[in-house]
Amino acid sequence: MKNSAALTAALLLGTALTAHAADAKTNWDDLCAKCHGTDGKGQTKMGKKLKIADLTYPAVQAKFTDAQAVVAMKEGITDQSGKQVMKPVEGLSEEDMKALVPLVRALAK
Ligand code: HEC
Repeated sequence: MKNSAALTAALLLGTALTAHAADAKTNWDDLCAKCHGTDGKGQTKMGKKLKIADLTYPAVQAKFTDAQAVVAMKEGITDQSGKQVMKPVEGLSEEDMKALVPLVRALAK
């Protein structure tokens, strides 16, 4: 009895984690793609306006760490003149943001 409860809990947790992993792509498409593009190249109206870096280039990816990527989502990005070019992402938990990092990294592969 005890074991089956543990098993059920493990299964439920497994389902939650799987659902979460799928969500990163949805979050990217919903919250990030309007600037970065679904492919990360930034060839969108907003992306072109912001002269956004092409995230498919390893050299661009090398400019930030995984932790900095999360900070960028949390706090946004300000350019040299102090203008906020990427707003802090709204409605995502820390976990959601962390889940987006491997997706961002995979854009350059
Ligand atoms: C309003 C447009 C906009 C949106 C929406 C946006 N970004 Fe950005 N993002 C930018 C700009 C501009 C930069 C600045 C870097 C550059 O292109 O030179 C940037 C940079 C980044 C970087 C590099 C961080 C660094 O330190 O250089 C990451 C990672 C990133 N964005 C991830 C995301 C993710 C993930 C989302 C969605 C949750 C997102 N962005 C949504 C505009 C946007």
